[in-house]
Amino acid sequence: MRFAAIADVHGNHLALEAVLADIRAQGIDEIVNLGDCLSGPLEAGRTADLLIGLNALTVRGNHDRYLTDSPADAMPSWEEHAYSQLSAHHLAWLRSLPFSAVYRDAVYLCHATPGHDETYWLEKVSPAGHVYLKPLEEIEALAAGIDQPLILCGHSHIPRVVRLGDGRMIVNPGSVGCPAYGDDMPYDHKVETGHPLASYCIIATTASGWLPQFRSVAYDHMAMSRLAAQNGRSDWSVALATGWAG
Ligand SMILES: [Fe+2]
Repeated sequence: MRFAAIADVHGNHLALEAVLADIRAQGIDEIVNLGDCLSGPLEAGRTADLLIGLNALTVRGNHDRYLTDSPADAMPSWEEHAYSQLSAHHLAWLRSLPFSAVYRDAVYLCHATPGHDETYWLEKVSPAGHVYLKPLEEIEALAAGIDQPLILCGHSHIPRVVRLGDGRMIVNPGSVGCPAYGDDMPYDHKVETGHPLASYCIIATTASGWLPQFRSVAYDHMAMSRLAAQNGRSDWSVALATGWAG
């Protein structure tokens, strides 16, 4: 088995196009998508059309939920611009996405954790705002009851793999479209990859087990940075230009 995992596209159509071209160039035609598809000050409508046409197994992210469940006149800040670009067809697609899914009987997919779509599975935030690798026993506790040997999550935008004590593996492919951001839950913190490239992961079964290969893809990130600035989001503009939170 060899497939690609993408996550946290966040309406970045140019980054998604570049990642899909890279996936095709690797000879891969199976893709799973871990959610947070459209929210952000970029190109939500075009991104929705591309993702719907892709027909990949996709789970719903917290930001996908905000787009379908928030009142139209009171969208959260990341959703406001994206929502204005979406048709009834796009919103119906978002509503159809499951919270979690199983791919080929072997891979469990969710956006954040099996129980909550806003909790980091692999990272912890200290009250001082430091983001660090969560202790293994806490990561394993969240994986209780999952039978699949490979688990995929997104949400933190940090590419990472953690092997559990029983041999299972949890992989976060990183974010296609948003390399850095600031958040205030559970404490004020920043997540920063430190580069503006698009991230995703190719995962293959090998003689020694599951092998995740993290890939970074260049695209015209400055075009997206300028678009974010035009749409009034200087924080996104800096993040897209540099990979550091603005
Ligand atoms: Fe996200």
